[in-house]
Amino acid sequence: MLVEDLVHFCAPARLIMGTGARARLPALLQRLGYRRGLVVTDKFFTSATPWVDELVTAARALGVTLTVYDGGAPDPTTTLCDAATATLRAAPETAGIDHVIALGGGSNIDLAKALCLTLPAGAPIRSFIGRIDSATPVLPLVAMPTTAGTGSEATPGAILVDPDNATKIAVMDNRLRPAIALIDPEFTFTCPPRVAADAGIDALTHAIESYVTTDAAAFDLGDDPDPGYSGRTALTMLFARESIRLCAEHLRPSHAATDPAAMREARIGMSHASLYAAMSYGSAGLNAVHGIAYAVAGLTHLSHGTTNAVMLPYVLDALRDVRRDELLTIARLFGIDDADADVAMARLPVVLRDLIGALGVPVTLEACGIREADLDTLTRDALAVTRLAKAFPVPDVAQRYARIVRSAWSGELSFDEGRAHPPLDVQAA
Ligand SMILES: NC(=O)c1ccc[n+]([C@@H]2O[C@H](COP(=O)([O-])OP(=O)(O)OC[C@H]3O[C@@H](n4cnc5c(N)ncnc54)[C@H](O)[C@@H]3O)[C@@H](O)[C@H]2O)c1
Repeated sequence: MLVEDLVHFCAPARLIMGTGARARLPALLQRLGYRRGLVVTDKFFTSATPWVDELVTAARALGVTLTVYDGGAPDPTTTLCDAATATLRAAPETAGIDHVIALGGGSNIDLAKALCLTLPAGAPIRSFIGRIDSATPVLPLVAMPTTAGTGSEATPGAILVDPDNATKIAVMDNRLRPAIALIDPEFTFTCPPRVAADAGIDALTHAIESYVTTDAAAFDLGDDPDPGYSGRTALTMLFARESIRLCAEHLRPSHAATDPAAMREARIGMSHASLYAAMSYGSAGLNAVHGIAYAVAGLTHLSHGTTNAVMLPYVLDALRDVRRDELLTIARLFGIDDADADVAMARLPVVLRDLIGALGVPVTLEACGIREADLDTLTRDALAVTRLAKAFPVPDVAQRYARIVRSAWSGELSFDEGRAHPPLDVQAA
């Protein structure tokens, strides 16, 4: 417990989890009174897996009619969303739908979330940026993630690419949290190693970043009585800690295990880790890793998991003066057992950078293809994501962002050369 805690915790209305749990969905849809639904997925799932057909057939037997839209794509754009809205609203079989079901990674879930808003209104998705009017109708969402990473099945946001300026826009409202989050880890067994690694790093980043973020009592809620994100609390930190422990155990084998039983266990472990991370960051929110990663993605178009991964060690290294206890806890969860707490904390970013490198992800901004001449622009773009910059729990955000970006470009960590340097002297940055 934290004495000053202010808990505003939001989660999906129903959380169902277990291997094979997907078989439970048709009867649940019937029980909740749903009659006509739209399944939002992509062609991998309709052509290479039996999951969509099985769901449609089993639901039909119980009187629930499902129509399938398999036009989902990685990092969906606002253009894709608006085109899907027009096509689906013109199709007679989607008239009167009373729920949307997402099957896929974060990309398909976010597209489905956006369609929950645009299908009833017929308005472009960009018109929902900012606060969404309370009278706006929102279709209920069932989210079934097939990657263990984004946690979108538990968050209030949909992230879409705006092709006009190559940035990502967020549409956010607590009513976009799913009515049902159904996590069947078997869905993740078909993930190629690269997808599993990228998603897994995303989950680890969510857990760590929300564990060290601004306290709820100090979080700027503006005038919003129902904020999607509201800072860390003792409750979110419980989920974050367990997620970090699970990632430390299962992330590497979920990418590289060769024994099928070990791979199965690791994928199940990462499904839990991803969900618990989302139960933390889905209320606590995120800060500098994601803030800088968005700017890196704008320059490089590398994947969400990769851009987060490259920044994570350097951001943690810059928090050693303000998040000592938390960094020591994370270090211990990663098996770093140096008796000297300062050494253990300083070693943590190095251990994480080694893990990230072992997962095949570049570990410096230079290796991501960023030029030294781009660093000032990159820092400015990252600071422009103010909702994330504001939540970075340091007194001198702009200076630290600049220093972090430079360290991440050159690959400089305090513990390099085998010794723990003092925390960053940001005044000298
Ligand atoms: N809304 C949120 O809260 C939130 C949070 C984090 C990230 N995101 C968004 O999520 C997206 C990334 O999602 P992601 O990492 O899950 O990847 P993804 O959904 O983009 O999927 C990547 C690729 O993997 C394939 N794939 C997914 N599951 C598979 C499976 N089980 N077997 C085989 N192939 C599979 C997909 O078809 C796709 O081609 C980004 O657009 C990011 O912005 C959203």
